[in-house]
Amino acid sequence: MNTLIVMMMIILVITVMLIRTTRKKTKNKPLAAGPRGVPLLGNLLQFDKSNTLSYLQNLSHNYGPVALLRHGSTPIRVVSSAALAKQILKTHDNKPSVLGQQKLSYGGADIAFSPHNPHWKEMRRLCALHLFSPAKLASFRPVREAQVARMMATLQARCSAANLSELAMSLASNIICGVAFGRTYDDDEYEKKKLDKLVLEAQALMVSFYFSDHLRVFSWVDKLSGLLGRLDTNFDELDAFYQQLIDEHIHPSSSQINSETKQDILHHMIQLKRQKPDSITWDHIKALLMNLFVAGTDTVAAAIVWTMTGLMLRPAIMKKTQEHIRQAIGCKKQGEMIEEDELEKLPYLKAVVMEALRLYPPAPLLYRIEQQSQSIDGYEIEEGTTFIINAWAIARDPENWEDPDEFMPERFIVGSDWELRMLPFGGGRRGCPGMGMGMIATHLALANLLYSFDWALPPSAPAIDTDALPGLTMHKKNPLILLPIVPSCFTSSPIN
Ligand code: HEM
Repeated sequence: MNTLIVMMMIILVITVMLIRTTRKKTKNKPLAAGPRGVPLLGNLLQFDKSNTLSYLQNLSHNYGPVALLRHGSTPIRVVSSAALAKQILKTHDNKPSVLGQQKLSYGGADIAFSPHNPHWKEMRRLCALHLFSPAKLASFRPVREAQVARMMATLQARCSAANLSELAMSLASNIICGVAFGRTYDDDEYEKKKLDKLVLEAQALMVSFYFSDHLRVFSWVDKLSGLLGRLDTNFDELDAFYQQLIDEHIHPSSSQINSETKQDILHHMIQLKRQKPDSITWDHIKALLMNLFVAGTDTVAAAIVWTMTGLMLRPAIMKKTQEHIRQAIGCKKQGEMIEEDELEKLPYLKAVVMEALRLYPPAPLLYRIEQQSQSIDGYEIEEGTTFIINAWAIARDPENWEDPDEFMPERFIVGSDWELRMLPFGGGRRGCPGMGMGMIATHLALANLLYSFDWALPPSAPAIDTDALPGLTMHKKNPLILLPIVPSCFTSSPIN
């Protein structure tokens, strides 16, 4: 009897869905189509998490530039057209609320996961002033140069293969620690290792699938599966870490913080809290720290690793880039670094980085939420729809890019309209405020890595691949392990 009722319910749901679909088709509008899902779950079971980018790109090939999916009760539009993406980023300032992101950002008290509201505006304004302004950017130069020098010294001291994925992550996180809260760590320090682990876990939890977000009736599964427990533990541990940094800033004598402390963003936020105790809470400050850490560390590390990967896969372009850098900079003594004011001599390197950002964008998918039912470019969009903007596919769209799968840095030397055709830093009011900081760190690190060493695959290492891990930031799945070789021009005749 029960089975009969269930079957009748299923038939009823399917019939209603078919009627809705047929009705929609009769309206004379360009409708976004998508794969058929199952009642209740929608397309959840079809979603290929192991290969999300290609899966979404294929959807666009099959169903057009605004393909429709459903995850439980959430309608999703997969956007793969540059023009539409620009339009949506310009007019949509809110991102979907995802349980893991909301928890770790203290309910959206940060910048990246906050709704578009006066608090978000104020936080962006403060960061623009105290973290990202040209004057601040210049004042952090010693932090960046010291950390790149440290990475280079680590490489110079070893004569074996180096894990560039680890080195890049460590470099980026040390730079952020330095500029955000005036503190750097030794890579082997227990505290640093713990922090790195915490940040990795936070990143995983931010993109985990929570039934509570899409199928409320099954929200108990989140608890049963242990996901909520992991989230609580990660939150508590990170919270304790932020609290320690705050305590160290309030009582500097009891800490190892250096004299840069008075420059850093944490110092300014604490000052501001004293002036405006009602509008700035400790949660706001902690959320901002989390945000800078997550948004600023991963992306820079990914940009460095993907550029090196792109070059290793194309030896002729690697050779051209290295010759360009070595000729433009001239000969330095072994161990002497390229400094930031020399970067302007390296336009080809900058084009190489842009090409790597095009083919391997560190933030490949951008998310926005539709807050009212409306028509966009003729497509009927339901209230509550999540837009997934596939920046990865947009930057490989043959309509906009000649030989899109080829690695051709020259296209960025000739053309300057890339901002219309790719979105490595997002767009609209929620576009990346850290672009300048991220690019300087990436250019400086790569200039030195490519100038001071030739690079080879270690003997018997597997061939280099471009497999990526799923996540908010696209990391290379298999670490990039390479052998640094001091070029003969340095070993045979060090030049003064
Ligand atoms: C190569 C380096 C970087 C890349 C490729 C990158 C990319 C991006 C992208 C694509 C977005 C937009 C996300 C969206 O629209 O949903 C974004 C936002 C953001 N980025 Fe970056 N980023 C980089 C470096 C940095 C750095 C160094 C910082 C800070 C220290 C930073 C802080 C932020 C913040 C706070 C947001 C959120 C902005 C908002 O929602 O209002 N980024 N980034």
